Amino acid sequence: MKLAAWILLAACTAWSSPLKPVSSAEACGRCHRAILQSWKLSAHADAMESSVFQDSLDLAEADFGAASQKICLACHSPLAAQTGDSALLQKVSWEGITCDYCHSIRSVDFAGPNPKAKVELSLVKSGPLKNSTSMAHGTVFSSVHTSSEICAPCHEYRNATGLPVLTTYSEWKASRYAKEGKNCQSCHMYRVAGDVVDPKIRAGGAERVNLHQMPGGHSLEQLTRTIKARLDSSRQGDQLKVTVTVSNQAAGHFVPTGSPLRQLVLDVRVDTADSRHFAGERTYRRVVGDQHGTPVNREHFAFVKAAKTLGDTRLAPDETRKEEFTYTIKPGVQTNIKATLSYVYSPLARTESQQHTTFLSLSKIVY
Ligand code: HEC
Ligand code: HEC
Ligand code: HEC
Ligand code: HEC
Ligand code: HEC
Repeated sequence: MKLAAWILLAACTAWSSPLKPVSSAEACGRCHRAILQSWKLSAHADAMESSVFQDSLDLAEADFGAASQKICLACHSPLAAQTGDSALLQKVSWEGITCDYCHSIRSVDFAGPNPKAKVELSLVKSGPLKNSTSMAHGTVFSSVHTSSEICAPCHEYRNATGLPVLTTYSEWKASRYAKEGKNCQSCHMYRVAGDVVDPKIRAGGAERVNLHQMPGGHSLEQLTRTIKARLDSSRQGDQLKVTVTVSNQAAGHFVPTGSPLRQLVLDVRVDTADSRHFAGERTYRRVVGDQHGTPVNREHFAFVKAAKTLGDTRLAPDETRKEEFTYTIKPGVQTNIKATLSYVYSPLARTESQQHTTFLSLSKIVY
């Protein structure tokens, strides 16, 4: 006991700058270096600073007044919302979904219209480890950290008109993955090599960490693992029939999920040797509209004012869909068929990578 106390004291001396109840990710990263590095690459770290979000926030202010921004900050800068930093003066307010927000969550309450996190900002950090001790902060085991519930306060949302804007949590809950015990973390925070605590600070700790990068719709690996497609063709006289079979094989929710402005787009192009060109397209998406049924094509509008779902062509978990396209092309003409799948992120994108990714391409030559 005495020895343990001495080691703890020695470690404290080696690590000099004490934490505050609300600290920047950089302060946590002094010890949790591998986790910091991976979190920095996540959409969570960029959720506040990204130009797409900032442009959208400006539109919310212009269209619905400055007070409407509070709605957005609750999820995109949850610590600004928690600490009342509406002037956004603190550094942590610009860190998006940062360490001290998630590790201050103690439980999630599902009683109200939206799931709500119970947050305690203090020097005690909650997490998945039982019997963990740290020289820098108190620790407390939390069962929500190993459950999908911790993601629900931000990935399930009904706006003031009552429209379910984000339904990722409930889509998951209704899927076979929930029944099989595969939570959000098993696909988005699986364990990878990395030290929980930098061995220079404390040797002998766990060498596996939960991936904090949260690969999702921006990850080529996730997209190609999940969305599979096959290209077939057949002939009936002068008619060339092209069939593309598209399936959602490994997402624990619809594809796309989340923001109603996300789209999965299938493009088919048919070019003949005698220079004739044909095209076809299918879009997998939700269309939401205002109370008059006018489609909404900006995120701020979808989050605040959308009142109706006008259409939904997304792929449910495990769903396979056959898309058929027919073109009049005489047999014997060399014809090149090409099908591509792209994921389209946001209409406010400024750069191509913010706008879309083409992740799958199939082609075939027929006569
Ligand atoms: C001086 C080093 C140091 C700093 C700085 C530090 N931690 Fe830790 N932390 C540790 C150690 C050591 C453990 C124990 C690891 C173990 O049990 O294997 C730990 C454990 C944790 C756990 C696991 C708790 C549990 O019960 O599951 C969480 C969560 C955590 N830290 C979050 C943070 C956050 C958030 C910050 C920044 C506000 C931070 N830490 C800053 C050293 C540090
Ligand atoms: C405090 C709110 C909050 C919590 C809690 C939260 N998220 Fe997020 N998450 C967001 C926001 C906001 C974005 C969108 C960021 C952006 O693109 O601007 C996001 C984006 C994502 C993405 C998309 C990444 C991509 O490639 O586009 C994934 C995956 C994700 N979150 C998974 C999770 C999982 C899993 C959990 C639970 C362990 C979780 N999130 C908890 C707010 C949250
Ligand atoms: C979106 C919420 C979220 C954010 C942001 C977040 N964490 Fe975590 N963290 C979790 C969850 C959930 C787990 C447990 C995952 C599991 O066990 O399945 C976890 C686990 C941990 C652990 C225990 C070791 C491990 O890898 O399981 C530590 C330490 C930790 N996080 C530190 C941090 C630090 C430091 C940051 C910021 C750089 C951070 N976390 C940001 C949700 C988050
Ligand atoms: C069985 C694996 C699996 C489970 C379980 C799972 N996801 Fe995903 N998720 C994926 C894959 C694969 C993608 C990439 C394809 C896509 O964007 O739809 C993805 C994408 C996402 C995205 C990005 C969507 C976008 O529009 O860019 C978010 C956000 C997300 N998941 C959140 C969650 C949350 C929250 C949970 C738990 C309630 C969860 N996921 C459970 C596999 C999973
Ligand atoms: C309940 C939590 C929540 C609220 C409230 C919220 N968002 Fe989001 N927002 C998210 C999540 C989660 C995503 C990512 C969904 C996905 O991956 O498909 C997101 C994505 C976005 C995106 C797309 C970012 C990108 O990189 O493509 C924009 C823009 C956006 N939100 C703007 C806003 C604005 C403006 C408001 C306020 C009017 C707002 N959001 C309110 C959770 C929220």
